[in-house]
Amino acid sequence: LEFTFAHLSDVHLGPLPHGAAWSDFALKRVIGGLSWGLRRRKIHDPAIAAALVVDIKAHQPDHIAFTGDLVNIAAIAEYEAGARWLDALGKPEHVSFTPGNHDAYVAVPYNMGLKHFEAYMTGDLRRSTNVQFPFVRLRRNVAFIGLSSASPQSLTRAGGTVGHDQLRLLAENLKELKKRGFYRAVLLHHPPLPGLAIARKALTDAAALSDVLRMEGAEVVLHGHNHSQTFNKLATQSGPVPVHGVPSASSTGYHSQALAEWHRYSVDRSKGTWRTVVDVRRFNPVQNAFGTVRQFALHEDDNTV
Ligand SMILES: [Fe+2]
Repeated sequence: LEFTFAHLSDVHLGPLPHGAAWSDFALKRVIGGLSWGLRRRKIHDPAIAAALVVDIKAHQPDHIAFTGDLVNIAAIAEYEAGARWLDALGKPEHVSFTPGNHDAYVAVPYNMGLKHFEAYMTGDLRRSTNVQFPFVRLRRNVAFIGLSSASPQSLTRAGGTVGHDQLRLLAENLKELKKRGFYRAVLLHHPPLPGLAIARKALTDAAALSDVLRMEGAEVVLHGHNHSQTFNKLATQSGPVPVHGVPSASSTGYHSQALAEWHRYSVDRSKGTWRTVVDVRRFNPVQNAFGTVRQFALHEDDNTV
């Protein structure tokens, strides 16, 4: 019996709430608000994101992975709108969310900000401490491991950091889940390998994260942030780890950006081997609908468990 899940990212939900850019006088918000008005609002169309949700739901995936940047400038009203958007996407137990740099665009008290998305970032075993990431959610024979790479950045940066504590727990989780026979899907906003993002936008500890992945392996790593489709492989001793990036879920294609996509994964296990088939569902502006533009299989030659 196959297990299917959807991957989407970088909704950048608009329009910006009135006056949001100027709230609390955060300069980064003001600049982010100007950037939205000049360029981003032409790239990100909430109607496309809504059509994407309709298309995902029509496929009835067993789970939905959303790798962050739901909002734009971390205004309080954006979190409220974001929570409503998530609610329309699916129930918290059915949707896993990892925050992006725009979800932590400026420092916002947790209770006024990311708390709105908390139910989608909570692991099966809620830890008694305030350590929230990585969360682990077990869905049949698939484990979703969610990392947070979101932290407020200086004016010109859009980077992120996973941090030592999350990396240590990630290594433990990957080892344990492999032992228990789970398919391991790692989720985070930023591209996890060095060189996949320009320095200004990169994960500061991508080298350390790729070391953990190289050591412990994973069946797939899903990310967003670059607003482009990337299918990479990280070579490891136990076979390549697929590292996949998806374009923005709301992209109009304006300014030669990649058109909106979501990716459908269907996972099956036979004779001790995982088989993953990826369907690339892309927005077609002429038909005003999503359709499959590519389908391919992973793990055929490698990844024998
Ligand atoms: Fe991002």
